[in-house]
Amino acid sequence: MTRETVYTCTDCGLQSAKWHGRCPGCEAWNTLIEERVAPSARAERRGRAGAGGASGTGAGARRPTPAARPLAEVGAAPIERMSTGIGELDRVLGGGLVPGSLVLLGGSPGIGKSTLTNMVLGHVQESGGRTLYVSGEESAEQVRLRAERLGPGALRVPILAETDLDTVLDAIAAERPAACVIDSVQTLNSGELSGAPGSVGQVREVAGRIMELAKARGIAVILVGHVTKDGALAGPRVLEHLVDCVLQFEGERERPYRELRALKNRFGSTNEAGLFEMRQGGLVEVLDASARFVAEATRAPGSVVLAAMEGSRPLLVEVQALVAPSELEQPRRVVSGLDRNRLALVLAILGRHGRVGTAGSDVFVNVVGGVRVDEPGCDLAVALAVASASRGVPTTSFAGGASGTPRACFGELGLTGELRWVGHPERRLEEAAKHGCAEVIAPPDSGAGACEVATLREALALALPPGSARLAEAVA
Ligand code: TYD
Ligand code: MG
Repeated sequence: MTRETVYTCTDCGLQSAKWHGRCPGCEAWNTLIEERVAPSARAERRGRAGAGGASGTGAGARRPTPAARPLAEVGAAPIERMSTGIGELDRVLGGGLVPGSLVLLGGSPGIGKSTLTNMVLGHVQESGGRTLYVSGEESAEQVRLRAERLGPGALRVPILAETDLDTVLDAIAAERPAACVIDSVQTLNSGELSGAPGSVGQVREVAGRIMELAKARGIAVILVGHVTKDGALAGPRVLEHLVDCVLQFEGERERPYRELRALKNRFGSTNEAGLFEMRQGGLVEVLDASARFVAEATRAPGSVVLAAMEGSRPLLVEVQALVAPSELEQPRRVVSGLDRNRLALVLAILGRHGRVGTAGSDVFVNVVGGVRVDEPGCDLAVALAVASASRGVPTTSFAGGASGTPRACFGELGLTGELRWVGHPERRLEEAAKHGCAEVIAPPDSGAGACEVATLREALALALPPGSARLAEAVA
């Protein structure tokens, strides 16, 4: 087969027959990627060459005028869904896999991508759907070892250990699966391109060709993708535009909790997150996360319960802080499960409006359990945890008796030290009440049951009153 490829600049779109380190068009470095020339484009170029460079208006006139119609007249067919057999995953997907769609599942090595996808195919297979697991990364034997831990359904999934794209496409066409997993998209290789597997050109080509087939045959495809150290999907950033849904699997390898989020979803919301735990027999959905996190909350100085929202679902998590004198010129700011810049902002507001200075101290803030909270409602919890750690006073409420019930809180901090309203206060309050948090410090207009405060200063006075250290010691 003649190989016809072209190098395209991702910045200015210039096309060149040869690779250049620097684009001859816009002079940007490392922007040229190899692409296969589509057959139609090839034919068109030949046709044009044959016609002696005549303009194509003649050909254009023969085409019928396309008719646009008002959106209201477009029939909205209900989207068909295929359950993955895993409730949390179905919810994050917006109700299940959509036939003919492409889902990109990203996550760092060892997080459980292969386990999750293997389980999905096992469930689909069990419920009578055809499946295919393409492994470019592990041998069939290795995949079998994993499937043994996941049960009989997973063992019935047909596997193809292959890295050649054309062979994989032939196998998919022959197997006609309802759901197919490509693990991973970086390991497949198209012989028509000269780039190494995993290069941008290759990854785009692989995903593009698989998408053509998936759309034509109505196959739901999950592409597994790797993630670089800084969290971006390696190589296939370009894929995010192509696929219908981008899922990110997060968590710390050493800890059991795993969180699945949708970063993009053409068929559902991007707010949903699913929580899993890695166990001996695979991933298990965590449905009582709030109860666990509240029960595990330490109630020591530096700990506070945050009533967070994970998409449409409330979740109580423990936020812990440690403030220690620093020996460094630039004190450390270490954060896990939260945005680093958010911490910097909260520390600045704490210093300015709460009289809690952290300039000479290292500050560590952690959302317990390896969960990530990505919402402005976490500001107050971070502020209270840091203030509590810095003063050595617990935020626990002793109103209920000696054992002390955890205090929960939520709210966004404004730059002038005011506490701002955040979404779904009623659901947060309900969840806190359900799990025995005696008091919930919240912004104004949060509704009945909240201890509403308007500023950070008021929140500090309520959570860490001057006499509370002695009271805590007395009950201890
Ligand atoms: P894996 O799915 O291979 O991760 P990825 O494909 O994202 O690289 O799973 C990684 C880890 O999960 C591995 O260290 C073993 C562990 N594991 C369990 O703890 N229990 C199980 O049942 C399985 C299948 C894996
Ligand atoms: Mg894997």
